[in-house]
Parts: sequence; structure tokens; C-alpha cells
Amino acid sequence: MKILITGNKEKDLAKPLVERLEAKGHECLCVSRASGHDFEKDPYDVISQVAKLARDCDIFINLYANYFFNQTLLAHKVYKAWVDNGLTNKMMINIGSTTDRVRRGKTNLYHYEKLALREFSQGHALPGVWDEAPRVSHISFGTLSNRSEQNPGRKTLPLEKAADYILWVMEQPKEFHINEISIDPVQRNYP
Ligand SMILES: NC(=O)c1ccc[n+]([C@@H]2O[C@H](COP(=O)([O-])OP(=O)(O)OC[C@H]3O[C@@H](n4cnc5c(N)ncnc54)[C@H](OP(=O)(O)O)[C@@H]3O)[C@@H](O)[C@H]2O)c1
Repeated sequence: MKILITGNKEKDLAKPLVERLEAKGHECLCVSRASGHDFEKDPYDVISQVAKLARDCDIFINLYANYFFNQTLLAHKVYKAWVDNGLTNKMMINIGSTTDRVRRGKTNLYHYEKLALREFSQGHALPGVWDEAPRVSHISFGTLSNRSEQNPGRKTLPLEKAADYILWVMEQPKEFHINEISIDPVQRNYP
């Protein structure tokens, strides 16, 4: 299958993910600043470019955090590009964060960006189950191992394990749809 990913296959979560996908014979198309797609410079133009690329891909993994709500906007544009062109046999996996379930007066925008993305995923998962529509799944992660240094003392989820979970969602039998999963690394001591 051809898989479009927002991220850089040389680093962060995209690295172990692409390694796994390519080992299984999938073709990965990664878009990030390294490929000339900088979402911060001209978000709307880059979002349109990526939505166009998605038309020829079977799966879109919306991985890069893409701030200022652009991850949700990108999800919308890709979904719309598929539906408007009758391309309903597609799958989107949105990567969120478990920060979005905290309900204690959060003031950082990232929290609300991820909440918006999860709301988008939940709303769009339903037609994928009941109608002729693309499938949409959502995976929320707690802190990943590439952010260990910024969070001293916190236990983190290894990038490789996170990539395995994405693959697991992607590889479910066609007759089942995973709407959403949410995974945190346990912080307390355990035997
Ligand atoms: N890491 C964590 O602790 C953590 C925790 C919870 C959830 N998440 C979520 O998991 C997903 C993956 O996180 P991640 O840690 O792998 O990294 P990320 O911060 O989402 O970045 C992934 C890749 O995006 C590219 N990128 C950065 N700025 C860009 C820009 N302006 N335009 C286009 N591409 C850009 C970078 O590659 P280039 O340098 O080539 O541009 C980078 O390697 C995200 O959605 C994140 O919110 C992460």
C-alpha cells in the first residue's frame, strides 16, 4: 500500500514507523520540512499540496503535531479531497496526545489542538463504519521517548512501541474498525 505520512523518516516517531512499514513492503511518502513542505511558512498552501498527494495514497497518517490547529485542518482537507473525488476506500490515522483528556484549566493551546483533532476523529469514525466513507482512527500517546530530556524523571513510551501500536491499528481485519486508542506510560513503580 502507499502510505502518506506527515513527518521525517530519519527522526522522531516517523523513523521507526517507516522502518516497520517498509519492511512489510509498503511505499511511504513522508512530507516535512526535509521534503520542502514547511507547514509553518505557508500552512494553507502546504495543506492543499498534501491533500492533493493524499488522493493517490491508501492511508494517511496525520503524524506531525502541526500547531495552530493545522493538524485538524489538514485532516479535514484530506478527508474532503477523498470524499469529493469518490475515494472512499481510504484510511486516516490521526496522532493525538493524552494531554487532551486532562480537565483542569489547561492554558496551553496544544491541549485544545489535540482535543479538536480527537473530536474530528470521533465524528468521522462513524460514517466510516456505517456508510461508504473513508475510515478514520485516532491514537493518543503520552510522552514519547524522544521527549525524555525535556521531561526529566518521567517514564516515556518508546518510539518503537508507539510505531507498533500505529501498525496494529492499521492492520486490523477489514471487518473491524478501531475508532480510538489512548496509551500512557505508567509513572508509578510497578513490580
Ligand atoms: N513526542 C511526544 O512526547 C509526544 C507525546 C504525545 C503525543 N505526541 C504526538 O505524536 C506525534 C509525533 O510526535 P513526534 O515527537 O514524532 O514529533 P513532531 O514534533 O510531531 O515532529 C515530527 C516531524 O515533523 C517535522 N516538522 C517539524 N516542524 C515542521 C514544519 N514546520 N513543517 C513540516 N514538518 C515539520 C519534523 O521533521 P523535519 O525536521 O524534516 O521538518 C519532525 O521530525 C505528534 O502528533 C505529537 O503531537 C508526541
